[in-house]
Amino acid sequence: MDNVQELREMTNPVFNTAKATLLHLTQAGHADAAMMAEKLGLDLAGITSSDEGKTAMDQSNVAIVELRYRSMNAFIQETGAKTIVDLPCGYTPRALEDFIGDKRYIACDLPAVAEEMGPLVEKILAERGWKRDVTYHGVDATNYASLRAALEGAQGPLCITTEGLLMYLTHPELAALLDNIRRILEEFGGVWITQDPEVGRVYIAMTVVSMSSDPAAAKAAMEALDGGADMGTVLKAMAGDKGRSALGASMDTFGGEADVDFSKAMNYRPEQAEAAEKELLRSHGLKVELTPVAERMPKLGSLDAVRTELARKAMERISLWTITPDEEAPVRLADADCDSFSVAITARGGAMDVVLKGRVDSLTAPEFLAAYEKAAGAMDLTDVHVDMSELAYISSAGLRVLLMMIKAVQPGHVGVSGTNDTVRDILTQTGYADMVTMA
Ligand SMILES: C[S@@+](CC[C@H](N)C(=O)[O-])C[C@H]1O[C@@H](n2cnc3c(N)ncnc32)[C@H](O)[C@@H]1O
Repeated sequence: MDNVQELREMTNPVFNTAKATLLHLTQAGHADAAMMAEKLGLDLAGITSSDEGKTAMDQSNVAIVELRYRSMNAFIQETGAKTIVDLPCGYTPRALEDFIGDKRYIACDLPAVAEEMGPLVEKILAERGWKRDVTYHGVDATNYASLRAALEGAQGPLCITTEGLLMYLTHPELAALLDNIRRILEEFGGVWITQDPEVGRVYIAMTVVSMSSDPAAAKAAMEALDGGADMGTVLKAMAGDKGRSALGASMDTFGGEADVDFSKAMNYRPEQAEAAEKELLRSHGLKVELTPVAERMPKLGSLDAVRTELARKAMERISLWTITPDEEAPVRLADADCDSFSVAITARGGAMDVVLKGRVDSLTAPEFLAAYEKAAGAMDLTDVHVDMSELAYISSAGLRVLLMMIKAVQPGHVGVSGTNDTVRDILTQTGYADMVTMA
């Protein structure tokens, strides 16, 4: 792997999780997923295990991914949109699905993913002699300019589809994404569809379905959840200790692999949280309509007929979110025009001075990391000062580089100055303000 690719992967927290989707679809019997996994050199052994609890969880993870992927395909078709924007596309075989045939498919993900998938899919289409309007683009979902460039020449209305992203974003990143979605839908028309806000409920329901053959189980689990029970309690009630230990095993596996706080994605959202999410959408000029996923229950390769019916029952209580601009909601869009980035580093003895300008996000963080590693490699580092007076925004990819600096020196020896309100909020909300000296 070359250095640039390595730096990009180091600053992308959910890289491995995306590859796991392809392997889960392979396990569910999806032929094109298996073919693509082989071409990418992915190894099923990396995500399966011989441990009993984990194996049960593996099975439910396969069912969760297959259900989400296939039901999203059905919902995408339902919108009737001619242009599909898959954000983030990850490594799924969607470009090869039949329904894409006469549509424009704009696949967006971080550059490390888009640059691997674009040539691979192009090669497969050429081998099959298929002419399809399919393109892959390196973007950062929080970076408006990168999204707008991917949409150049696109015809609306769009169907923007998101599976497996929202739960990984920090609050400021989510806010930036919502502003970008609103801008894009206003310009092109169309809808944004996602099941991500329901992910905690999907996990519980499908884990129960995979582990139990009791027809009442899925319904009882969902009712317990609606009553406010936490996931561990529900799983224990439905599947005994096996359920609880499997949940722990899954969180260990994915927490380690994905390098994110996976518990964030597993949290059941009581009604209050759902209302807060709707209010958040509203404050970004968006509104939501909920449709039960059961309405587009797909045929599943990973579950037998009895369990598919259980899953369908559970999906009556889990929704697809269809999000559109809310003309009546007050909007205060963030400044999207400060996308330029630069980093300058100078060293005096053991002290490093860093000046950051513009936006540090997933697109620019690798450059920041490379500059830091080059400078740090040539000195005996004791202190770091980061001048942020011209920094507009920093995402979690940029914070990962800041964390490397914090770990490289004694506590209290990283100083930060000149933060604007946005950056100060980000540092405070993510806990970084406590790890650096703020001036
Ligand atoms: C869990 S995967 C989901 C991918 C795909 N939709 C699926 O179902 O497998 C998350 C994806 O989000 C991408 N990603 C993470 N942060 C991103 C960002 N800021 N902008 C765009 N893509 C991002 C990762 O590269 C990864 O491919």
